[in-house]
Amino acid sequence: MFPRRVASLRFSGIRKLFEAAPAGAINLGLGEPDIQPPKEMVEAFKTALDNGMNKYGPSAGIMDLRKAIANNLKSYRRDVHWENIIVTAGATEGMRIACETIIGEGDEALVPNPGFIIYGPDVALAGGRAVDYSLTSENGFCPDPDEIQSLITPRTQAIILNSPSNPTGAVYPDDVIKAICDIATERDLYILSDEVYHNFVYEGKHVSPARYHDDTIIVNSFSKSLATTGWRIGYVATSKEIVEQLAKVQYYTLACPPTATQYAVLEGMKIRKAFRAAMLEEFRERRDLAMRKLSEIPSFETPLVQGAFYVFPRYSQRIASEEYARKLLSAGVICAPGTAFGAKGEGHLRFSYANSKENIAEALDIVRDVAGKL
Ligand SMILES: Cc1ncc(COP(=O)(O)O)c(C=O)c1O
Repeated sequence: MFPRRVASLRFSGIRKLFEAAPAGAINLGLGEPDIQPPKEMVEAFKTALDNGMNKYGPSAGIMDLRKAIANNLKSYRRDVHWENIIVTAGATEGMRIACETIIGEGDEALVPNPGFIIYGPDVALAGGRAVDYSLTSENGFCPDPDEIQSLITPRTQAIILNSPSNPTGAVYPDDVIKAICDIATERDLYILSDEVYHNFVYEGKHVSPARYHDDTIIVNSFSKSLATTGWRIGYVATSKEIVEQLAKVQYYTLACPPTATQYAVLEGMKIRKAFRAAMLEEFRERRDLAMRKLSEIPSFETPLVQGAFYVFPRYSQRIASEEYARKLLSAGVICAPGTAFGAKGEGHLRFSYANSKENIAEALDIVRDVAGKL
């Protein structure tokens, strides 16, 4: 028998579907940019290997990268320094060690539903209990501060936010972020802010809760912004005191983040503006195309997507999202059922537009035909 906290973990619903995909299916299930990282970064990676960067490094990451990340975050807060940064093996590990560090046995953390799949398990693995708050299309998929307030108990330790959001594509406006920060400040809670899509904003502006709330723990990564999901480099930005604790947990989890990759990411940070601008333009056009195509499907309702690279339409057919996704899969389109992101995702499908415009158009034509027959 395995302990409950492990035995109760489920494999991702998305993976299960991908494995059943027929050959030649168009993949609108991807959670990563379909482009390669800048070649200067790849060269820097090779150079780092040639230069012998093949050994353990510092547990909290190499100093130059910590400094470069802190420098970048000065647009959020001027008081950010290298001591406020720990380099991690992507946001996945960052979120995991953050939960491990701040959540105690029996503590509660508020998590979005529908939301990215790791939050609940991360809270549970830390010995805590995830309490869902709802994101609904009526509300533009924004958290409702009144609901958040009503869910707080003496055991609540943290609120997990994710803007721009996976799976909904919502970007939370400044007033919503501020209202949640005010609650967190008043109730003395941490905000764990997953900002991995901060570069993918098409409408409005990315606002980090770190602007308004000192006890914010930013979890971020270069996976999406530099198209390096396989490199596993991210970071956590927070107070110096929390970083010191995180570094201990990271040491026992990972020893240190991968060394050569950090030098490559450091190089990438120098050129990322141009890379990011080109990628954003391309993804904006894809978003527009996906929105246009989805608007041709009468049974779908899709609020304008503001960020990340997903659309999350609500459909009117009385059919479970997993079954819907399977029907689309048989017709040649891979997507994720809304319930892969929590029970409140039922009635939705998630399509990623991290694919070529030709594929997006062809796949959404297939979706329109399948939807028309249901
Ligand atoms: C919202 C969100 N957070 C975190 C991650 C994990 O990112 P990383 O590759 O940095 O571990 C993902 C990946 O899809 C994501 O969508």
